[in-house]
Amino acid sequence: MQASPQQSPSRESPRLTIVVPTFNERDNIAALVNSIDEVLHGKIAWEVVFVDDNSPDGTAEFAKKLGQADARVRCIRRINRRGLSGACIEGMLSSSAPYIAVMDADLQHDESILPVMLDRLTAGDVDIVVGSRLGEGGSAAGGLSAKREMSSRIVASIVTRFFPRGVSDVLSGFFMMRREAFDVLAPQLEQSGFKILADILITSGDSLRVAEIGFTFRARQAGVSKLDSRVVLDFAGLLLNKLSRGVIPVRFVFFALVGASGVIVHIVTLRLALISVGLSFAVSQSLATLVAMTWNFYINNEITYRDSQLKGVRFLQGLLLFYLVCGVGAVANVGMANWLFVRDPVWWIAGLAGAAVGAIWNYALSSSLVWKR
Ligand code: GDD
Ligand code: MN
Repeated sequence: MQASPQQSPSRESPRLTIVVPTFNERDNIAALVNSIDEVLHGKIAWEVVFVDDNSPDGTAEFAKKLGQADARVRCIRRINRRGLSGACIEGMLSSSAPYIAVMDADLQHDESILPVMLDRLTAGDVDIVVGSRLGEGGSAAGGLSAKREMSSRIVASIVTRFFPRGVSDVLSGFFMMRREAFDVLAPQLEQSGFKILADILITSGDSLRVAEIGFTFRARQAGVSKLDSRVVLDFAGLLLNKLSRGVIPVRFVFFALVGASGVIVHIVTLRLALISVGLSFAVSQSLATLVAMTWNFYINNEITYRDSQLKGVRFLQGLLLFYLVCGVGAVANVGMANWLFVRDPVWWIAGLAGAAVGAIWNYALSSSLVWKR
């Protein structure tokens, strides 16, 4: 006889999955689980899913230890991947509960609004409830410096102008939603980046019914924030992608910008080698090409493909492969430019078309071969 889940549940299946992305949060997660248990005790069957990007401080091992003592604690350990949005998406996709929430591990998000969020969702008139630091009843004073609060407000108001959804704090990392609504959106969400909620709200268009609940953003418990200036860059890329209705991939924008910066590096190196050092043109040009390719590889590895960053031996292997890809890309570039120039000798059109073909080639091959995931 086949066992059906209804006949023999091994434990009460969770109705709420709380996804907690972690990177170096070992000293925070036990306290977080306790505080969640305190507010949800007797209210709903819940589970916590830590999604850890192989933190060097051993967060994943520790989370699994917690899981051995308490079946409501799960942990997904990801290797060679980094990224807050991707981690949240993966955790949410692992849920089979009707409701899912996302919150930070560092105790900055006030767990006491979890039951309030849940009540809003179970009442059935909304699909997603956002924990807001900026709207009514919310405050960011404890957890954000004056400078960050101001930039949060500015960015939030820009986003709201382009994509009005009636949410004051689109940058919040704290929300709860119906899983089915998430499952529909998941394939369209951007994996790289920090702003999963903004992506969900923008991507959903008008299809999600949204509510907001204020909370006080507390100071981080242990450890340090991982939000840096690259996060701002990522977010600009996400907005561009959404404004172009997904036609321009975020990564390609970064890749092209890095390529443009590589042109400057090329010219500077060429000038130094040719004029300052006095090498021959052929040698100087070869050197400049090599330096520019290495620069492009390094910056792309740091920014464009940060979520699958290559390190150690894989960095060197990737670099060699990147030289090869760009070498072929250069041939395609020159081939295309020549072909056009012969037909219609407008030099800059031929030149630009060649560069575009080269860039697209380099991008496609880099994404699928060098930084493949
Ligand atoms: N798995 C994984 N991978 N988790 C990550 C990563 C990553 O690359 N980067 C950060 N995290 C986890 C942290 O461990 C923490 O639990 C949570 O994501 C938030 O990261 P923080 O580093 O604490 O961010 P913050 O407090 O500066 O930023 C908060 O405010 C932002 C808006 O101002 C967060 O709530 C953000 O989500 C929010 O967008
Ligand atoms: Mn934080």
